[in-house]
Amino acid sequence: MIKLENITKIYNQGSRAAVNALNGIDLEVSDGELLSVIGRSGSGKSTLLNIIGCIDTPTEGRYFLDGEEISKLSSSKVSRILNRKIGFVLQDFGLMLDRTVYQNLSYPLIFNSSLKQSEFRQRIMKALELAGLPLHGNPKCGELSGGQKQRVAIARAIINEPSVILADEPTGALDSKTSEEIMKLFKTLNDEGRTVIIVTHDRNVAAQCNKIIEISDGRII
Ligand SMILES: Nc1ncnc2c1ncn2[C@@H]1O[C@H](COP(=O)(O)OP(=O)(O)OP(=O)(O)O)[C@@H](O)[C@H]1O
Ligand SMILES: [Mg+2]
Repeated sequence: MIKLENITKIYNQGSRAAVNALNGIDLEVSDGELLSVIGRSGSGKSTLLNIIGCIDTPTEGRYFLDGEEISKLSSSKVSRILNRKIGFVLQDFGLMLDRTVYQNLSYPLIFNSSLKQSEFRQRIMKALELAGLPLHGNPKCGELSGGQKQRVAIARAIINEPSVILADEPTGALDSKTSEEIMKLFKTLNDEGRTVIIVTHDRNVAAQCNKIIEISDGRII
């Protein structure tokens, strides 16, 4: 379970460029939930998702993931949690475009010490199949279409079989048919018991989730 208590995020704190991106967020997300986060541009959605995904830290407040308070853990423990428990689909995919699909999907596995290198290939094939992208050959990610890149990003997010999947605008760059297919994929992952949190501008995407929260000026409304 994810539990946030009075989370605040101030960028550039103490300077004239300070931005109050989050202002006291309280949120509980149960295991297996399919949640969408909506709100205007600049309202704090990505900031919130980045804190939940442990790729950013709050200025104040407490974050518990499965009962462990994240800020109290060493950075190596947080990296381990990030690698195993959380799959992140970034707004701009975050793929290495000059590397092949196989290489992109191998990196998270290298940091997963419980997996032998001989198991990588099978894991990668399984993730690509789940993400609906059968691999013919091994193209560089830069050679793929937007929808295909999105599927590689999703395959990478699920490759270590995380319990939580976080996606920032996963359908933002896609046509409506591809968006629908990607949403179907998130629903399948959720049906398998994973917690899925999707940040979106798209009301159609949000409407397909079990629960919607809206953020305005860094607050849940
Ligand atoms: N690294 C940063 N340094 C300074 N300010 C930032 C930083 N990242 C975000 N902000 C500011 O924090 C506020 C919230 O930004 P955030 O990216 O969370 O919004 P968002 O809701 O995801 O917007 P969008 O829908 O456009 O992606 C904005 O005012 C933004 O300018
Ligand atoms: Mg954003």
